[in-house]
Amino acid sequence: MKNIVILISGRGSNMQAVVEAAIPDVRIRAVLSNNENAAGLAWAAERDIATAALNHKNYPDRAAFDAAMAAEIDRYEPDLVVLAGFMRILTPEFCRRYEGRLINIHPSLLPAFPGLHTHRRALDAGCRLAGCTIHFVTAELDCGPVIAQGAVPVFDSDTADTLAQRVLAVEHKLLPQAVADFAAGRLNISGNRVSSIRTADADAFLSN
Ligand code: GRF
Repeated sequence: MKNIVILISGRGSNMQAVVEAAIPDVRIRAVLSNNENAAGLAWAAERDIATAALNHKNYPDRAAFDAAMAAEIDRYEPDLVVLAGFMRILTPEFCRRYEGRLINIHPSLLPAFPGLHTHRRALDAGCRLAGCTIHFVTAELDCGPVIAQGAVPVFDSDTADTLAQRVLAVEHKLLPQAVADFAAGRLNISGNRVSSIRTADADAFLSN
């Protein structure tokens, strides 16, 4: 059984997708946030998942907040920490502490559009494809070995909101898949590349 801790800052729909996927041999130990009003916290608490919020404004600096968050995370002895819409930049120390067991979902086809407002920027750049990326986290923002990417078309009529919705539907499929692959030991990091050893079990899980 693999222990997973998920960090969110708001709605938490990606976290919900991971929980609802009921991935074999995965236990969602806790959902943590920097925002006590994150809607996803209430959703998780209703399902008897441990939750906690640490308000970053109560800490003198980024390092202090990250240390407190790490202490909270470590209570659950996670095999994997998932950043699922966690909107805080993490210190290099935090990233190093969880190296190889910290993943992030980002709503663009990295390395295009790291940072914020990805859908607006994809539209402004005239992209015909947009998408999302799941990657291992390194100290550099929205970098790190890519686990999976999903692409969607951009339509002439798109706004940032309609594009975000189309991408989000793909996020909800890719993130549980990535967690399942990690938990089953199917991901191997080599430099900046991740190879994924798919098995019949994985394919069966994905087709459900
Ligand atoms: C997602 O688009 C995620 O990729 C980005 O923030 C959004 C979070 O949505 N980092 P939710 O909280 O999972 O609904």
